[in-house]
Amino acid sequence: MTGVKRCALVIGASSAIAQALIDNLLLNDELVVYAISRRFPADFSDRMLNQKRLQLLECDYSPAQLSAIIEKIKTTSLPCVKVFICNGILHNRTFLPEKKIEQFSADIFQQVMHINAVVPGLWLQQLITLLKHPLPCVVVVFSARVGSISDNRAGGWYSYRASKAALNMFVKTAAIEYARRAKNVRLIVFHPGTTDSKLSQPFQSNVAPEKLFKPEFVATQLLSLIKPLGSESYVSDHQATFIDWQGKEIEW
Ligand SMILES: NC(=O)c1ccc[n+]([C@@H]2O[C@H](COP(=O)([O-])OP(=O)(O)OC[C@H]3O[C@@H](n4cnc5c(N)ncnc54)[C@H](OP(=O)(O)O)[C@@H]3O)[C@@H](O)[C@H]2O)c1
Repeated sequence: MTGVKRCALVIGASSAIAQALIDNLLLNDELVVYAISRRFPADFSDRMLNQKRLQLLECDYSPAQLSAIIEKIKTTSLPCVKVFICNGILHNRTFLPEKKIEQFSADIFQQVMHINAVVPGLWLQQLITLLKHPLPCVVVVFSARVGSISDNRAGGWYSYRASKAALNMFVKTAAIEYARRAKNVRLIVFHPGTTDSKLSQPFQSNVAPEKLFKPEFVATQLLSLIKPLGSESYVSDHQATFIDWQGKEIEW
């Protein structure tokens, strides 16, 4: 592929926001985009059929499959300059977020913790060797404002809140190690705001229409927020940053 100089990874690519990010990233002719998902929705795969700069990689998020994907990308020798880890679950067919403590279940907590904190943690573990290169690289990990310990006023949603708080601490800790081992990498913990997706569907009736964002809007905001961090003149303070869709810092 002529003109291709770098690559980007979008992990958890069945997410509505992830798909909007992929559309936007593909506008840049210099980028190859690797999209990673357990299973790609048929409408997305069909729409992407002729995209030569997009590779769809199925993955069960086991350490062995993560490692195989990292090795595959390494063989291309394209520096990876952007990574988006979008995985996150709030509810599924069998459970909703807890309104009161009696609804807390160890099994559900472990499931939510695995998807929201362990899976992103495994990616950060595997990515460190791929991302160490001379170009600036930005890693965005999707969290949520409700994962902020100091901002917790409403309570409820025990498993989701606790898993996102654990994720935030994991990323903050990883940023300290990345600062030593892969200084070119900047880690961002991102709150997209309430966005129209499967995740927010059961709660959308409580949200004013102007406060329910389209995935395309969130993707555009995020890419414009991280653009300066990808510039070669940017100097990182090597701390993770927790920001929302407006670029406003959220307290940990
Ligand atoms: N939408 C909102 O209002 C909102 C608000 C605050 C924060 N967020 C956060 O933003 C991120 C993207 O959310 P979205 O709204 O785009 O959600 P979505 O469309 O429901 O996407 C769900 C995401 O979770 C992953 N996932 C689901 N079950 C999984 C499992 N068993 N194992 C591993 N991964 C699994 C999916 O990955 P696969 O591609 O592998 O299926 C996909 O990336 C999430 O981290 C979410 O917590 C969303």
